[in-house]
Amino acid sequence: MTLTLDAAKTPATAVSAEPIEHPGLEGVVAAATKLSRVDGAAGRLTLAGYAVENLAPHASFEEVVHLLWRGHLPTAAELAHLKQALAERRELPAATVELLRAAAAAGLPAMDALRMAAGTLTLAPRLAAAPDDLEEAALTAVAAFPGLVGAYWRLRHGQEPVTPPAKLGLAAAYLFQLTGEEPAPATARALETYLNTVSDHGFNASTFTARVITSTGSDLVSALTGAIGALKGPLHGGAPGPALDMVFEIGTPERAEEVLRTKLDRGERLMGFGHRVYRVRDPRADVLAEAARRFYAKEGDAELYDLARHVEAAALRLLRERKPDRKLDTNVEFYTALVLHGIGLDTDLFTPTFAVGRVAGWIAHALEQRAEGRLIRPSSKYVGPEGRSWVPVGER
Ligand code: ACO
Repeated sequence: MTLTLDAAKTPATAVSAEPIEHPGLEGVVAAATKLSRVDGAAGRLTLAGYAVENLAPHASFEEVVHLLWRGHLPTAAELAHLKQALAERRELPAATVELLRAAAAAGLPAMDALRMAAGTLTLAPRLAAAPDDLEEAALTAVAAFPGLVGAYWRLRHGQEPVTPPAKLGLAAAYLFQLTGEEPAPATARALETYLNTVSDHGFNASTFTARVITSTGSDLVSALTGAIGALKGPLHGGAPGPALDMVFEIGTPERAEEVLRTKLDRGERLMGFGHRVYRVRDPRADVLAEAARRFYAKEGDAELYDLARHVEAAALRLLRERKPDRKLDTNVEFYTALVLHGIGLDTDLFTPTFAVGRVAGWIAHALEQRAEGRLIRPSSKYVGPEGRSWVPVGER
C-alpha cells in the first residue's frame, strides 16, 4: 500500500465547514506599518505617503528602496551611495552558481531556483563575515536577487552568467543579467515602473510570511526565502503567467466572451481579476496599463495590447454578471503580464521578477517587525476528534 496525501480526500485534513470569525485572517489588523496604505474601498495605494501612480513611473528602483527602508526619498548623495553599495554586492557566491547550475540541469521552474538560491545568500562573503548585520543582509538580498534569476535563466539556456557594467541601475542590470545586453532606455523604464509598482503592498501573504518569520527572531535570509515560497502560489504572485496564457488562448477579440464563459462555467477563476482587499480596480493595474500602453505604442505588438484590453472588458462584464455582489475587478497581475511580456520576459520569469521588486518591501517590513513587532502567533479553533485512546499498532 502506498501512502497517499491528498488534502481534499484525507479525512484528517478535510476540516468541517464550521464557521470561524476571520477565515483567512480577512480584515484582521495584525500590526501598524508606515510603509504602504492599501485603501481597498477607494482603490488607492500609497507608498510611504506617495500615491503609486505619482511615484512608480518616475522613480528609480533604488529611490523606492531608500524610501521604504529610510522613510524618505534619497538626496543625490544618498542615492549615489545606495547605488554603489548595491552594485558592489551583485556577485553571487560560487556555491550559489553551482546550485543554480544543478537547478538548471533539472529544468526546475525559475521560482523554485530562486527560492533555493536565495537561501544560499548567507554565504555571500560580506554577510558571512557579519551574519547579524541586518543592513548587510538587506543590501546583499536586493543586490543579488536579479543576479540569481538572471544567472539561472542563462544557465538553463546553456549560457554562462554575466556581470553587468557597474554603471547600470538595478532594473537595467537585471535585464543585462538575463540577456547579456544593455537594454533600451524605454525597456528599462517599463521594468523599473513595474518593480516600483509592486515594491510593497500592505500585509499581503508573502509580506506576512516574512514578518511571521522575522517575529520569531529568525534571520533576514530565512524570512525572504519563506516569502518567496508564499509568493509562488497562483492566488498570489503566480497569476500573471496564467493571465497571459489566457489572452493567448483567446487569440482574437471575438472569441473572448465565449472562452471566458466556458472557463467560468467550469468553475475556473479568471487570472488577473479579483483581490482580497480591493473592491474596485487595483490602482496598480492603472499604473501598469499606462506603462504597457506607452511601451506597446513604441516597441511592442499593438495587436496584443488591443486584444488584452478587449479580454479585460469581456472578463469584467462576465464577472459582474456572475458575481454581482462580489465586485471583482482587474488586479495588478493582468497588466503585469502585458508589461513583462512586452519587454521580452518569458512567462516563467514573471513571478521571480515580482520577487525582484517585492524584496524591497519584504525587507522594509522585516525592519519594522524587528523594531517594534511582537511574536505573531494567532490561534486556531479545534474541530477534530476528541477523547480517543491509544491502540497499539498490531490491534488497529
Ligand atoms: N474569477 C472568477 N471568480 C472569482 C475570481 C476570479 N478571478 N475571484 C474570485 N472569484 C469568486 C470566487 O470563486 C468566489 O465565488 P463563490 O463565493 O461562489 O465561492 C467569490 O468570487 C469570492 O472569492 P474569494 O475566494 O472570497 O475571494 P478572495 O478574496 O479570497 O480571493 C483572489 C482573492 C485569491 C485574488 C481571487 O480573486 C482569485 O483567485 N483571483 C484569481 C487569481 C489572481 O489573479 N491572483 C492575483 C491576486 S493579486 C496579488 O496577489 C499580487
